[in-house]
This record gives sequence, structure tokens and C-alpha cells, in this order.
Amino acid sequence: EENMDMNHGDMEGMEEHMDHDNIPPLQASKGTQELVIPPLLEKQKDSDFDYEVVAQEGTTQFFDGSLTNTYGYNGNLLGPTLQLKEGETVKVKVRNELNEPTTFHWHGLEVPGTEDGGPSDVIQPGESKIVTLKADQPAATLWYHPHPHKSTAEQVFKGLAGMLYVEETDEEAPALPHTYGVDDIPLIFQDRLFDENKQLDYKNLMNSDGTIGDVSLVNGTINPKLTVTKPLMRFRILNGANARNYTFRLSNGATFTQIASDGGLLHEPVEMDEITLSPSERAEILIDFSAMESDEPIAITDEEGNALLPFDLDIDGGTEEMESISWTDDTTFLKEEEKSLPVSKEIELFGMMDKVTINGKKFDPERIDLRQKKGVSEVWEVYNKPDEMGGMIHPFHIHGTQFKIISRDGREPAPNEQGLKDSVLIEPGERVRLLVTFPEEGIYMYHCHILEHEDNGMMGQVEVY
Ligand code: C2O
Ligand code: CU
Ligand code: CU
Repeated sequence: EENMDMNHGDMEGMEEHMDHDNIPPLQASKGTQELVIPPLLEKQKDSDFDYEVVAQEGTTQFFDGSLTNTYGYNGNLLGPTLQLKEGETVKVKVRNELNEPTTFHWHGLEVPGTEDGGPSDVIQPGESKIVTLKADQPAATLWYHPHPHKSTAEQVFKGLAGMLYVEETDEEAPALPHTYGVDDIPLIFQDRLFDENKQLDYKNLMNSDGTIGDVSLVNGTINPKLTVTKPLMRFRILNGANARNYTFRLSNGATFTQIASDGGLLHEPVEMDEITLSPSERAEILIDFSAMESDEPIAITDEEGNALLPFDLDIDGGTEEMESISWTDDTTFLKEEEKSLPVSKEIELFGMMDKVTINGKKFDPERIDLRQKKGVSEVWEVYNKPDEMGGMIHPFHIHGTQFKIISRDGREPAPNEQGLKDSVLIEPGERVRLLVTFPEEGIYMYHCHILEHEDNGMMGQVEVY
């Protein structure tokens, strides 16, 4: 007891504002474990719902000789991948087997506010409910996670998160690799901090400016490697960290092709040599391994060059299909009239640690901050106001919508941001204009996706009517 208290005091004293200089580097993967692929969530038979998602406690062996207490959906850590087809409606039973309240939020899915699983939609321990999810939007890589007021960061940190795919049904769509776990691989990147007992003791480890750790996990696997069996691989990358921004590269300097952003396919594929994702952002990329030497070490690295996911090439043939994957949309990404719409909502992100605010206020569940009409596009201008320390990146997320980035400080967004988005990285001092349309009604959150900032009240509510 005493020890714990002392520890707590120490950690608090050490708690620092997360600017670029005090971010602990990630440990490189030793490549000793084959990457875990989350299972696909199976459809229920003969039941009044299609899927069941249970938040539960468990244990996970990250380190030899010790078990870590973790949270998971339908298992010990993370959750199964839920696949919906474009246009499909399913009933999902959500059940809380934790010893604390939780919610089930479908990040990026354009569902009515009643199904969105925001902080007001609490499921008490032992309780369940059935939500109706309609995937009425283009194919995309989305995700799900808890959203209880003031404990989202802790529950995600302990392991609650899963992938949610909206799958293509259009026969005319580009022929992308799509065999789950074979040439179409989910990659959930997270960093974690463990205490000396190898536990994820959040209350002692947390930093109110965003909890950042030195241990890299991919799909919950420590020291992962992936055996690649196809020449052309599709990776669906999620930054599932509480607070860390990642810049991904390939260790051999090769380029890759980004095909999708948060909400679906880009306007056209974009060749990249690195990609930065802030917490909750996703990117789908294709890597063409056909020209790479199997004896040269190839890995996805971070910006420091630490290998986060080494690859073992064991390609069993298959044709090189990269050439056939291209599309160009004849329409322009944004219409002239969309670009020239006046700003109608101004959002100012400010502060750090527990002093974070939006438009000078902290989240109040009793307060509606903004109202917007269903189906009517509005321009939100989001400003990340710097402070005396220079400020920090805030990833800004809106529920219930896939928006388009109109401009960053007046400039056109980069080609790999010309696609649907639900989260956007905003640099200190930057003003980003978003074209926001809500297809459904309800009360939705908008917030910083540094989970500790969200818990500290960097969140507001928009009522869509
Ligand atoms: Cu990832 Cu409010 O959500
Ligand atoms: Cu969300
Ligand atoms: Cu923030």
C-alpha cells in the first residue's frame, strides 16, 4: 500500500507535458512472435441479433514469466474484426462484463446518435443492449472502442479496441487484395508503458497530456514479425495509441501506395515514402514486395528507424497486380461551390495537460455546443491555438460523419488527404477547414483524440436535427 502511494507520488512528479523532446523512443521489434491477426467476428445463428461484442477482463502474456491484466472484447486483449457490407444493417448485442461502466463506440460509422455509443450511452456492469448498425457509407477501415466519460483513456490503454470494416460490394470497384489475414492485414499500432510488475497500471502510469510508452505493440503482439506470402499486400493501419503520433516508413527506403484514408478510397492512389498518422487516424496502403530481395531486411519502421513490424518474405507466387490497381475519379475532389462556402462553425483547441479546452470550455454532458441540420454541409474551421510553450498536435475527431479537408492554412490538402476523413491531425498554430455533413440525426461528440485530453474535457457536443 505504502509503496504504491509513493510510486503514485513519484509518477505524478515526473509527469511532463508531451512536447517533442520528451517522448520516449519505441523499442525495436526483435521479430520473435508471428503477428497475431484478430479473428473475424462470427455471425450468430438463430438469434435475435447478428453479432455479440462483450467487453471483458482477461490476462495476456506479453513478457516471459508474467501475466498482464488486460481488457478485451470477446477475449483477453483487443477485439475481433467486425465486417459489415456496404448498405448492410446488422443488430449487435453489446454486453459489459467489466467491473466498471463502459460504452461501445463505432468510430467513423455514420449511424444515428442513438447508436453511436458516446459517453451518455453507458452500459452498466452485467448489462447489455442491442444496437442497430447500418453501414450506409463507402467501404472503409473503421474501428470500435469504449467512450465512457473520463475513463476512455484507461479502458483503451488496457486493451479495448477492435477493427470495424465496411466492405466493398460494387463489382466495378478496383481489384484490391482482400483475403483477410493473407493479403489484407489489419495493423493496430499502439505504444504501452508497463510498470515493474509488467502491469498496465494506468492510474500510476498515466500522463494527463497523453500516456506514451516505449513498448510497441502491433495487434497486441510484442516483438512481432509478419510472414508475407503474397507479392502485393494490403495493410489497413490504425494508430490506436492513446497519444503517440507515428510516422511510418519502409526500412529499405522503398515507396508504398496509399489507397485509402479514414473513410474510404482516396480520390486516386498516392505513392508515398512515409506516412504520419495521429491517434485514431487510419490509412490503407499497398506494398509491392515483388521487386524486393528476400535476404534484405524489410520492416515497417517509425521515423527513428526502429523496426516496428519486420517482414519475412516467403512469397508463394501469385501475379504482380500492382499495375492493374489504379483509378481516377473524373470529378474534382471538392466542387468550387464547396470550397467557397463561408465558415459557419469555429472551433478553437487550446491548452495542455488537464487544462485543455475547446472554445474556452470543458466538456459538459448537459450542454449542447453546436447545432447543425442533417444533410446540410457546413464549413468548420478548427484552429489549434499555440501557447507559451509552443503548443502541441491535437488530432481532431467528429462522430457521425466522414468529412473532407478543404484546406490547411489556406492551402489545398496533400493528395493523401483528399479522401473522406473522420480525424485530422492539426499542428500548433494551424487552421484547418473541414466540409462537414451529417447524414443522420442525434447528438454527437467532437473532440481531441489524445484520449487523456478527451477525458480532461477537450470535447464538445453537436446536435444534428
Ligand atoms: Cu474514436 Cu469519440 O472517438
Ligand atoms: Cu468516434
Ligand atoms: Cu489534444
